[in-house]
Amino acid sequence: MQNYHKMLENNRAWAARVLKDDTGYFGRHEAGQRPHFFFIGCCDSRVPAELLLGAGPGELFTYRNIANQAHPNDLGMLSALEYAVEFLDVKHVMVCGHHGCGGVKAAMGPHGHGVVDHWLHVVRDVYRWHEEELEALPDDVARTHRMVELNVIEQVFQLSRTPVVQRAWAKGQRPILHGLVYDLHDGLLNELVTGVDSDEKARLLGARVTSRSMPQRT
Ligand code: CO
Repeated sequence: MQNYHKMLENNRAWAARVLKDDTGYFGRHEAGQRPHFFFIGCCDSRVPAELLLGAGPGELFTYRNIANQAHPNDLGMLSALEYAVEFLDVKHVMVCGHHGCGGVKAAMGPHGHGVVDHWLHVVRDVYRWHEEELEALPDDVARTHRMVELNVIEQVFQLSRTPVVQRAWAKGQRPILHGLVYDLHDGLLNELVTGVDSDEKARLLGARVTSRSMPQRT
């Protein structure tokens, strides 16, 4: 329990520090939120969205799940997306994967992980589509890196297929979709996909992710 109580102490210290620097801080947040970004990331504890983007509270609307998926059957993600796009009017939706992703690794091997095997079935499909390219890579680290990238691209494509995004684009509205990978080695975000703001661009992206001859990222 010691670590748990330390967390609560940290919270009290943080709130006091914030208030000392800016007396109106909590009052502004009580009034409502107006984030410009919807961030879909992995549950992994090493990928703290706000920290790595230099964003403060109120700037990111977030949804995290294992292997940062925009899963077509995930009502939680779809509800968050609907709220972000239709009520908060976010400008950008970012899908952020990360190197060393345990979820992606689990999807590359045999079953036997439990419930998560069901959750990862879209990621398993991505692996199957690209098995030839992946198996040709020199080692497991390179294979996982590449799978993390392919998965991010696929998840951006999945997002583009949702009724929420399709409806927004049909009306000539936002959001713009982006796909990023966080590198645990140096803390940098690598942009894989950016500026997807129309069905035409999304279809081109879909062709990329399902093509076996997809070129390596440069
Ligand atoms: Co992960």
